[in-house]
Amino acid sequence: MSDNIKVSVRLRKPLERESAERVIAQVVSENLIKVEQRAKREETRNFEFDLCCTYSESLEEDQAQLYEQLARDYLLHALDGYNTCIFAYGQTGSGKSHTMTGSAELPGIVPRMCQELFEVREMYESSDDQASTQFKIRCSYLEIYNETVRDLLGANKCRIRERADKTTFVEGLQEFEVNSVDEILDYLRQGSERKTVGATLVNEQSSRSHTIFTINVEQKENSPLGHVLERRSSIRLIDLAGSERANASGATGERLKEGSNINKSLSTLGRVIAMLAKKKQPRLIPYRDAALTWVLKESLGGNSKTCMIACVSPCDFEETMSTLRYATLARSVKTFAQLNTQETVDGKVQMLAMRQQLDELQGALSRVGDQRLVREQMEKIKLTNQFLEARIERERRAAVDYYSQYAQASSERDNLVQVLSSIVSSLQSFDGGKIRESLVALKQRSEEIGKQLEADHLEIRGAIEACPSIDLQ
Ligand SMILES: Nc1ncnc2c1ncn2[C@@H]1O[C@H](COP(=O)(O)OP(=O)(O)OP(=O)(O)O)[C@@H](O)[C@H]1O
Ligand SMILES: [Mg+2]
Repeated sequence: MSDNIKVSVRLRKPLERESAERVIAQVVSENLIKVEQRAKREETRNFEFDLCCTYSESLEEDQAQLYEQLARDYLLHALDGYNTCIFAYGQTGSGKSHTMTGSAELPGIVPRMCQELFEVREMYESSDDQASTQFKIRCSYLEIYNETVRDLLGANKCRIRERADKTTFVEGLQEFEVNSVDEILDYLRQGSERKTVGATLVNEQSSRSHTIFTINVEQKENSPLGHVLERRSSIRLIDLAGSERANASGATGERLKEGSNINKSLSTLGRVIAMLAKKKQPRLIPYRDAALTWVLKESLGGNSKTCMIACVSPCDFEETMSTLRYATLARSVKTFAQLNTQETVDGKVQMLAMRQQLDELQGALSRVGDQRLVREQMEKIKLTNQFLEARIERERRAAVDYYSQYAQASSERDNLVQVLSSIVSSLQSFDGGKIRESLVALKQRSEEIGKQLEADHLEIRGAIEACPSIDLQ
């Protein structure tokens, strides 16, 4: 996907030496800056940008705000896996080095980004998230001085080379792995001390070279299933030397030579930007015409999310107008940032992870098995209950049958006793010797059977009453 270069403007606070001069530029809103030359009213112009930053009473707040509003996004893009680039452009003394590097008291974008990058790393690496992320952070620092690339962290002059895929790289540039914010800031300090600066009439600490501080970030995200997602990104933070007019900077001798090389490379940058900004781009973009554009090839027209900060001074009408026109052109330049990510599967890690998952699944399955066992037991218990209920019912029915048989026997006994009693009374008047004796014996026998039946009856009734579920009625 293509992205336009994001262009923002930073209006510097008037310096003491400018106190007598007229302020000609003013930030009107977040996106608008107005430039006005009072002597010639027709020269008043409004310029629109992605972000316009002005100054306040607090230099510290201005630095912090610029980082938060503008630069932080480029760290976040880099953490996603995009290459990013922020470069400060503008006339000499307009505040590029102050914006990018700043000082120990008023740190600029580079140290703030280093600080935040390590805070993020700490946060990711100490998180209890299952997917762990490991960072590898490396940095390098170079300057392009009089069209020569110099390693600010090593002893070598370096060469710019082109790879087979037409991207460029700096051969021989040393990269250092850094494991703490102090370490990376130490490299930044060491390199900045070696950077070529010199005093001119406009700026006591004028950058005589373009510097590029690069932070390469590699993130390895290990998922619990052994997938490894690698993100690689390169953050380029560039402090350009400022365009200058020899009569204004008072440059002579070596300073003049430096100045003319600076102007030459900046005008090549201008031409490259003008060509890239065209709707129908020419086939050949003159990247090779200057070391600066050759190194920045990818950041200007390739795989990068790029931001330009146009620094302007508040009192110089000509230079401010020229910077803003240049910056307006840069807004039409498109880059083609791609995510530099790669997903791999580490066999060994995956084996371990799968074994662990298998254990977990087996554990879960055994718990499911337990539940099945419980269900089976429940079924058995239910069946046993049904069986017992049926048995109780059967026994109840048997008891009722037994009771009704007993009742029938009782009533038959009563009938028999009644019949015998009536036979005995009708025979009492008849004195028939032996017959009477037989009848008395029969009556006794009948009474004994009656007593026996009565005893059986009591015993059966007691047994049935001991069973609560049986209703004898
Ligand atoms: N936003 C700002 N607020 C206050 N002071 C600033 C601001 N920007 C720059 N300055 C001061 O202005 C002076 C010039 O700034 P700086 O060195 O950053 O300019 P430069 O653009 O890098 O110039 P050169 O191209 O010559 O290197 C310094 O003294 C710096 O402290
Ligand atoms: Mg500078």
